[in-house]
Amino acid sequence: MKLTIRPLTSEDVAAVYTIERSSFPRPWTRDIFEELGRMRGYTLLRSSERLVALVAQVDRQVVGFIIWEDSPSQHRGRILNIAVDKSFRRRGIGERLMRHALEDMRAIGVVTCELEVRESNSAARLLYAKMGMVPCDRIPLYYGDEDAIRYRITLPSSQG
Ligand SMILES: CC(C)(COP(=O)(O)OP(=O)(O)OC[C@H]1O[C@@H](n2cnc3c(N)ncnc32)[C@H](O)[C@@H]1OP(=O)(O)O)[C@@H](O)C(=O)NCCC(=O)NCCS
Repeated sequence: MKLTIRPLTSEDVAAVYTIERSSFPRPWTRDIFEELGRMRGYTLLRSSERLVALVAQVDRQVVGFIIWEDSPSQHRGRILNIAVDKSFRRRGIGERLMRHALEDMRAIGVVTCELEVRESNSAARLLYAKMGMVPCDRIPLYYGDEDAIRYRITLPSSQG
């Protein structure tokens, strides 16, 4: 299986949005993905933050994506969304997306990365634990119907 990880483009939006809708009970709206596609995977939010979107591709098929937020002034990153097409799960694609995002963060000087996950999402929680992330907080009813567990990792410095 030849896996490529690259920034999201407009041509990927339909595939990525199909994965989003089949992965989450409350999917993001399509316009966020369209905006990211138009901006070739990078878009500015507010004053200094930006979103970064990467897709995983096997042969010519888009099979997963990851979206993270970067707050350069605080040296902090936050993974906002990750999903892999159901028929491509358990093949290491989620792990590759996570590694790629964490390495990109480290390379631009991000020191800590955090994310929130549904308490019951054991597949994702095991993935984050495998990445070396540790649970550090619980946010009651973060999803309306369920608590979130916050995971955090301190990234090695880009000098070392
Ligand atoms: C979470 C998700 C992205 C994982 O993607 P994936 O490509 O299947 O994960 P990988 O194959 O890279 O798995 C890497 C590690 O994660 C853990 N893991 C992933 N899925 C798992 C599962 N169903 N059961 C147990 N462990 C699992 C394992 O530790 C695995 O390592 P191993 O294969 O050596 O055991 C995928 O299940 C998904 O898209 N889920 C729906 C969307 C979602 O919940 N996203 C997270 C929102 S916070």
